[in-house]
Amino acid sequence: MAVLIKGGTVVTAEHTWRADVLCDEGKIQAIRENLEPLPKTEVIDAGGQYVMPGGIDPHTHMQLPFMGTVASEDFESGTAAALAGGTTMIIDFVIPSPQQNILEAYNQWRAWAEKSVADYSFHVAITWWDDTVAADMKTLVREKGVNSFKHFMAYKGAIMCDDEILVNSFSRAIELGAIVTCHAENGELVYRLQQKIFDMGITGPEGHPLSRPPEVEGEAANRAIRIAEVLGVPLYLVHNSCKQSLEAITRARNEGQRVYGEVLAGHLLIDDSVYRDKDFDTAAAYVMSPPFRSQEHQEALWRGLQSGNLQTTATDHCCFCADQKAAGKDDFRMIPNGTAGVENRMEVLWHHGVSTGRLTMNEFVAVTSSNAAKIFNIFPRKGSIAVGADADIVVWDPEATKTISAKTHMQKIDFNIFEGMEVKGCASHTLSQGNVVFSNGSLKVERGAGRYVDRPPYATYYDAMTKRAEHKKPTAVER
Ligand code: URP
Ligand code: ZN
Ligand code: ZN
Repeated sequence: MAVLIKGGTVVTAEHTWRADVLCDEGKIQAIRENLEPLPKTEVIDAGGQYVMPGGIDPHTHMQLPFMGTVASEDFESGTAAALAGGTTMIIDFVIPSPQQNILEAYNQWRAWAEKSVADYSFHVAITWWDDTVAADMKTLVREKGVNSFKHFMAYKGAIMCDDEILVNSFSRAIELGAIVTCHAENGELVYRLQQKIFDMGITGPEGHPLSRPPEVEGEAANRAIRIAEVLGVPLYLVHNSCKQSLEAITRARNEGQRVYGEVLAGHLLIDDSVYRDKDFDTAAAYVMSPPFRSQEHQEALWRGLQSGNLQTTATDHCCFCADQKAAGKDDFRMIPNGTAGVENRMEVLWHHGVSTGRLTMNEFVAVTSSNAAKIFNIFPRKGSIAVGADADIVVWDPEATKTISAKTHMQKIDFNIFEGMEVKGCASHTLSQGNVVFSNGSLKVERGAGRYVDRPPYATYYDAMTKRAEHKKPTAVER
């Protein structure tokens, strides 16, 4: 059925204007004032509300097998929770175990994701290296709609990449026109510090941030940036949590390098005091990597977002319930790393970003949706309100209020890191593929309705970066 969103104010990353929006057959069909409904058109009264591109969360881990357990949120429940918060697309991660064929892992994740209720796509992690990985990366880019490869610089002994893997994979990515992404923490240092802190008798969750100080993140961010610079590949650093990694990104961008930075809603709003909670379940619920930091880092991250040195916001949605976190009761190193947020990202960013004046509404759209669509090459199909774009839309009520709580959220986890936070400004309606899937607190979703979104390689990036690499080739004298 066609849907007409009437009487609202359209907000995109570029501008704001009064218009009605007509959606049919999954696409936006018309945008102008005074559109009249056709017969059998559902009309949404958006008076006093904003009509924005649905959010894109470029960093989630639904039903991830990790640290001896499996994330409790699956693709169906996770994408449903996302829609309830105005996020209409996620980009999740295929994470092959070391030595696992990466195409096999990709197929496994695709099968798990078939029950999604909103659109999704996949970054693929490179966790080991040989010639088959290089060949399979080509298949993924040319035939499977993957244009981004992820590298964990932490989690030693599991999925960590050393420099050799980074260099191999980055080199291959630039050949294929793909972007590389990194979880930047020096895994060797984390491993040593974890051991040291545990041996000192600090076994509880308070040991987690002590073992992962900002310097460990800054070092890895800078290393990834410099490797990417030498090889001439665009780089996206996930979940920047501290000044050190932001400074590395800012420096590189000032030098003209194509480096992008993501920040999590949690890192903007939660500080490291949570790890000192006397209650194990509470402190453990916040264990994620990199950890939440002190307020000075939070302020720096907001400035990074405001200045454009950080371009995207995500959640790293990776749910583990208390019974799963209990695996680390006697040893913080065993607490499964991960926290949730896919349902709350948009509202906490609006409340603490737009309502405080840190971000304009247009900047809000940019950092919650359009920039991710551009960086991961699905714009303007996603991330825009334009005729012909996918009708993935959020109708935003700036006057609506709510108190975030695990008691009322839709996420499949028994804890909410934003518990008790009062926010003003929430999704009143969410449209996915032109269907009203969330309306005034109720979900109406269909298992399997979400589609896998192909992301084509970056021909222009590839050409540009190859030219840049040519330009930077050593001269005869330097050789
Ligand atoms: O703690 C986290 N972030 N868990 C999920 C895996 C990752 O590092 O992104
Ligand atoms: Zn990570
Ligand atoms: Zn992650």
